[in-house]
Amino acid sequence: MRIAMHGTGTMGTTIKELGGDKIVAFVDDLDQIKKDEQIDVVIDFSHFSKISKLLDICVERGYPLVIATTGYDGEILEKIVEASKKIPILLSSNTSLGINAINDILEKLTPKLEGNFDIEIIEKHHNKKIDAPSGTAITLLETIQKALSERYSIVHGREGMRRRDKKEIGVHAVRGGTIVGEHTVIFAGEDEIIEITHKALSKKIFAVGALKCADYMVGKKAKLYTMKDMFK
Ligand SMILES: NC(=O)c1ccc[n+]([C@@H]2O[C@H](COP(=O)([O-])OP(=O)(O)OC[C@H]3O[C@@H](n4cnc5c(N)ncnc54)[C@H](OP(=O)(O)O)[C@@H]3O)[C@@H](O)[C@H]2O)c1
Repeated sequence: MRIAMHGTGTMGTTIKELGGDKIVAFVDDLDQIKKDEQIDVVIDFSHFSKISKLLDICVERGYPLVIATTGYDGEILEKIVEASKKIPILLSSNTSLGINAINDILEKLTPKLEGNFDIEIIEKHHNKKIDAPSGTAITLLETIQKALSERYSIVHGREGMRRRDKKEIGVHAVRGGTIVGEHTVIFAGEDEIIEITHKALSKKIFAVGALKCADYMVGKKAKLYTMKDMFK
């Protein structure tokens, strides 16, 4: 398999080390790859400002794409959806196997607890992270929202004099030091609390998962995939 790594930062470098000979290009811009070079799949861990151009080139050249970059807005998401009609794209805000397992758990647990438990999400990351809440927290939130029978409002952080509404989900972002990434979903009921926590101890877990995603995407038809498709 011939993988092009888009993004040469911390994650890109970790994937390059783990992927060995499979990584045939390590670039900040796909323009740096010759058009006639065989590329089976592109992995993207870059910056949200680079996704638009990345999509243009992948569509033009027909490269399957794994997008792991976070922090993009609705406009970029729309462009990703449009591009996935022409090329296969796997979109994952967290490529670790653990977070994907937690998403499955939340799908099943949320309907059982709805109405009797208040739901809060706390995420913690290093002090260099620019987007808040994390893409993973947003994914966890979306999973919970989809599993609820009605739409809850979202409250980011809290201050001031207001009691919590029954139908709201609190989302809290902590930033400090070198925390790789922690996500906790709290279901707080009367006299009982369920907490589901995932702690990333190194960035390697994301690299291992992203390489699995790349493997999965080779030869797929044009569609927007998630890691859920991989585990069917
Ligand atoms: N899906 C997942 O599982 C997962 C896991 C970890 C991280 N991520 C996401 O993946 C992305 C990359 O993470 P990372 O830890 O590798 O970050 P990083 O070390 O900062 O590297 C990001 C890459 O983007 C470039 N970049 C950074 N800021 C930029 C800007 N303002 N404009 C243009 N280019 C910029 C960097 O180039 P320079 O080195 O030249 O600045 C580098 O090539 C982030 O969005 C992060 O949230 C996702």
